[in-house]
Amino acid sequence: MNMASILLNTLSFLSVSSVVEALWHTVRTPRVPISQNTKAFLGYPEDSLLNFTELTTKYGYPSDEHTVVTEDGYILTLFRITKARNCFNSKRYPPVLLMHGLQLNSHAWIDSGPSSGLAYLLSDACYDVWAGNVRGNDYGRRHVSLNPNKDPKFWDFYIEEMGKYDLPAIIDYILDYTKSMKINYIGYSQGGGTFFVMCSERPGYCDKVQLMTALAPATRHYSTRSLAFRSATQLFEKLEKPLSVYGYYEVFANGAVTQEFLALFCQLSFLTTKLCGGFLNLIELLYSLHPGSITKYTIEVLFGHFPAGTSLRNMARYGQSMRSKRFQKFDYGREQNLVVYGREEPPEYNLSAVTVPLVCLYGRNDGIVDTRDIAWLIPQLPNVLEAKMVDDPLWNHFDMAYSQYTRNELFPTINKYLLQFSAP
Ligand SMILES: *[C@@H]1O[C@H](CO)[C@@H](O)[C@H](O)[C@H]1NC(C)=O
Ligand SMILES: *[C@@H]1O[C@H](CO)[C@@H](O)[C@H](O)[C@H]1NC(C)=O
Repeated sequence: MNMASILLNTLSFLSVSSVVEALWHTVRTPRVPISQNTKAFLGYPEDSLLNFTELTTKYGYPSDEHTVVTEDGYILTLFRITKARNCFNSKRYPPVLLMHGLQLNSHAWIDSGPSSGLAYLLSDACYDVWAGNVRGNDYGRRHVSLNPNKDPKFWDFYIEEMGKYDLPAIIDYILDYTKSMKINYIGYSQGGGTFFVMCSERPGYCDKVQLMTALAPATRHYSTRSLAFRSATQLFEKLEKPLSVYGYYEVFANGAVTQEFLALFCQLSFLTTKLCGGFLNLIELLYSLHPGSITKYTIEVLFGHFPAGTSLRNMARYGQSMRSKRFQKFDYGREQNLVVYGREEPPEYNLSAVTVPLVCLYGRNDGIVDTRDIAWLIPQLPNVLEAKMVDDPLWNHFDMAYSQYTRNELFPTINKYLLQFSAP
């Protein structure tokens, strides 16, 4: 197979799976009924079937589950690793909050296993590690009054609400629970963009954070090279209205057709060697190739937890961001913008408000968050300590969460700055 045909297959797969998902949701049975026992029988690795607490505990890092309720009623699950296998200090450093990227959940920090997962590396260095989830993924699919399976209103959000409500609620919860003055924050991709939204829209919240570490932060996507990511998000943008007419508001839910199909396809043990290998290339193509960086084990495990789901609105806004040179709010079209914003163009997020000391790590081979968009972003942030291109020239978007080389490529820089901002 050449690159073009792989790309075509990826695109048609994404479109077909979206249509299938749409149909599925129309008949209102969003979950695929494959039991955990059946999966185990089919040869899915155990780690892909375990939830966050089960998986960290298995490797000697017990964790607690916490529940955060946002101002607008979303119920989010937050995890805290309570004990690390290799930390023997009695004192623990101040809390570090890890926020995942688009279509991910808190598993992004552990699915590459105990020798590479950032949550494990940080725990071993004696940081008090918390991993959050935003509204709409499988750990954030609850609400005090809205039913995600029935109420379209539940899905009426994009990064705006994550930054405005989810992050402040999570940060306040951790500060209150640990009686700390401040936390440190690490955001991957969307987890970086939502942090900027928070600073812009909720003055004061930035001050509750001592240090922000941005791993390939997603702001504008004007220079995004990945055709697959471009096409998929723009497809959702085009289909937002027609799909919502048919009651389709949720994209790639965990446990729905696409995720189960990906997992099944990848996990069937008798197919694994051939198909999952080729499949891995296909997925990597979505994010630019870096052969061998993400292990086969990690791929198999991560498809148990990815994609984790988000709103159609959120996907559609990513589609819009592919064309815009600004990091801005949702574009409803001229007329509706006048109603919502009082002007024809959506307002930009205020990057000058990101006053917190910031470290940014990015990859040269990142097809989603391009170095040109990073070069656009960095000069606008008022307090950048360092913006560092990862040494490995093939470092891509997925590597930030899943590479087996995290310990050498990311951790030393992350740890260096965290230490400076972690006075006990
Ligand atoms: C994870 O699994 C444990 C043990 O089976 C269970 O008690 C817990 O509720 C699960 N957590 C989530 C968030 O599903
Ligand atoms: C952006 O944030 C900065 C810093 O908080 C503030 O001084 C400025 O007035 C804000 N700009 C706008 C347009 O709100």
